[in-house]
Amino acid sequence: MTEGPQPREAVRQMAPYHPPTGGRAGKLRLDFNENTVGCSPKVIEAITQYLTADHLTVYPEYVDAMNELAAFFKVKPEEFAMTNGTDEAIQVLVNTYIDDGDDVLIMRPSYAMYRFYSEVAGGVVREMEYRKDDLSFPIDKFLDALRPETKLVMLANPNNPTGTGIKFEDIRLILETAPDAAVLIDEAYFEFCGVTALPWINKYPNLFVSRTFSKVYGMAAMRCGCIFSNKDNVAWMRKAQSPYSVNMLAAVAARAAVRDSDYVARYVGEVLAARELAYFGLDKLNIPYFKSQANFILFQAGDRAIPIRDALRDRGVLIRDRSYEIPGCVRVTIGTRDQVQRFLTELESLWNK
Ligand SMILES: Cc1ncc(COP(=O)(O)O)c(C=O)c1O
Repeated sequence: MTEGPQPREAVRQMAPYHPPTGGRAGKLRLDFNENTVGCSPKVIEAITQYLTADHLTVYPEYVDAMNELAAFFKVKPEEFAMTNGTDEAIQVLVNTYIDDGDDVLIMRPSYAMYRFYSEVAGGVVREMEYRKDDLSFPIDKFLDALRPETKLVMLANPNNPTGTGIKFEDIRLILETAPDAAVLIDEAYFEFCGVTALPWINKYPNLFVSRTFSKVYGMAAMRCGCIFSNKDNVAWMRKAQSPYSVNMLAAVAARAAVRDSDYVARYVGEVLAARELAYFGLDKLNIPYFKSQANFILFQAGDRAIPIRDALRDRGVLIRDRSYEIPGCVRVTIGTRDQVQRFLTELESLWNK
């Protein structure tokens, strides 16, 4: 052991997380489920107006953004917190409800940050697996795995990287079976499927819902998200949140983004058409895939998963290897039809080699 300050045991034990960032500029980035054409020009316009010394000199004020976002999401301002991306939403939720040794139930594979923040806090993470054949959500097994002492459940709907969704009825069963657990439904990809638990925040006292501006809104770099629940839960979370974690430009950008709903609707329409094109192209190559409710598709490349990913990268197209968690699988983000066509053309030339 080295001298000097010693990290907490929880930090010592946790699995490292290394997101493959860097070297993505100039490539067709179908690896992080981002918006592949960028945010609304109105967002850029709004941010630009706030790039003055006067605006940058003061700590952020959130009242206008909170009121505008509340109206957009059809909740009261006291029923949500703005966060530094979904990641901070997860962190604040964990910090509010998880003590050393507490039971946290999540799915595998799913978004890596559920495990990450739970482990940092010293929580004990249990993982259930998606059904092997179709990667659907195993509701019966999940309900069986819930324990009276379970403190936190975190589920992505639709899930990343499987693209599969959880039925309303199943969410209801989880909420009713675990009344003392905080249940997060992470709706990072909501806009591509339209299924949301948000209207239930005052019906189920244990429900938390998160949304992000990183995906369909094309603002991943701004780091802005929201977490919703009833006002009592939100008050506890705000108590555990640092006061200025969302920067002023992110708050300005979020307001401008929700005002331009046409831009988002057009992008969603394009992605849904492009997703059909991707299915068609994969079918043509006889490559098995899982039908997705989001802006990405997980497909089976078998023992060629990593070579295909690398060969596509050499041709300027980035996709994400997921074979370490689902054997043989890689995930491709769906962008525009032109972008998907480029991916398919490159894939076809490699696949039949
Ligand atoms: C399910 C899910 N939740 C949250 C996020 C991250 O969101 P944010 O950028 O808002 O932290 C991702 C990003 O990949 C995701 O897949």
